[in-house]
Amino acid sequence: RTRLIVDVDTGIDDALALLYLVASPEAEIVAALCTAGNVPVDQVTANTLSWLEVCGRSDIEVAAGSQVPLVTPLMTTEDTHGPQGIGYAELPAASQSRSPRSAAQAWVDLTREHPGELTGLVTGPLTNLALALRIDPELPSRLRRLVIMGGCFHHPGNTTPTSEWNVAVDPEAAKVVFDAFSIVPPDRRPIVCPLDVTESIEMHPEHVARIGDVVGVPRSGELSPDSPRGTRSTADVPLVRHISDALRFYMEFHRDQGLGFLAHVHDPFAAAVALGTVPYTSRPATVDVELDGRLTRGTTVADLSGMWQRTPNADIVAGTRPAEFFDHFVERVGSYIRD
Ligand code: BDR
Ligand code: CA
Repeated sequence: RTRLIVDVDTGIDDALALLYLVASPEAEIVAALCTAGNVPVDQVTANTLSWLEVCGRSDIEVAAGSQVPLVTPLMTTEDTHGPQGIGYAELPAASQSRSPRSAAQAWVDLTREHPGELTGLVTGPLTNLALALRIDPELPSRLRRLVIMGGCFHHPGNTTPTSEWNVAVDPEAAKVVFDAFSIVPPDRRPIVCPLDVTESIEMHPEHVARIGDVVGVPRSGELSPDSPRGTRSTADVPLVRHISDALRFYMEFHRDQGLGFLAHVHDPFAAAVALGTVPYTSRPATVDVELDGRLTRGTTVADLSGMWQRTPNADIVAGTRPAEFFDHFVERVGSYIRD
């Protein structure tokens, strides 16, 4: 079993990643840590508590992180994820409250309690982990593995022409993390899932319909591109309804970007990489983050051939088979909801 600290900015695709992990017998979520990103951190925390509760896991510790990135003011993206961060989904308020400790302190405490046992999965900006490294620079040596959804190594980015959202929100934090993990041995190098690959993980209305088929709810076609903007699902299984309502917003956003009625679901792919349940290829590299560029601040740069003469600090995921990922994802999430 992979025991995980997940660090999220929930977020539609973060929510799908959490659901996928909850549904996975290979995974045990030890804590869900919240970072400011897609929406402000208090909203991320409220979303994460509510979402885990509708997923049947209100027992998981949820801790909140910093309100702001290390250096720059926070930017959020309600255009992408909806005013509350979960698209059109209307989640009930959570009955549990957040952990009394901060997300950064939770990273430190948990890796001290379980040295060498935990895998970190970060699907939001790296602020919390960077703050944890300030408290305890030895943290990388106590983590079994770190998996990051972030960065892009081929243009274009999704935030600036050359930068990806999770890095662009807090570039200083990303740099702190990449620098800190250069000390770990090759078999513990952070695995980086960049936009270049996660944008091939295109979720279509058909995938949502297939989840409904596994659960056994009637296909009603509500997630059709032809129904009016904002049309809500009428499925009587709450999770099926929430998935559909969240993804409708995300697909409308992608359509407005000229990409078609589909959604790039970056974060559940990174979750599957963390569990080793999806095929992928990767390449070792030394990754650094541009902090100063007039046009390129927040850009991840990979040295793939040792030109910098620095130890590789990442395995960059280079390719996968998206259809296999979705067959697995649909079956796993659908059967968890059904059972
Ligand atoms: C990343 O940005 C966020 O909006 C998504 O949740 C994902 O983690 C993709 O660039
Ligand atoms: Ca995210």
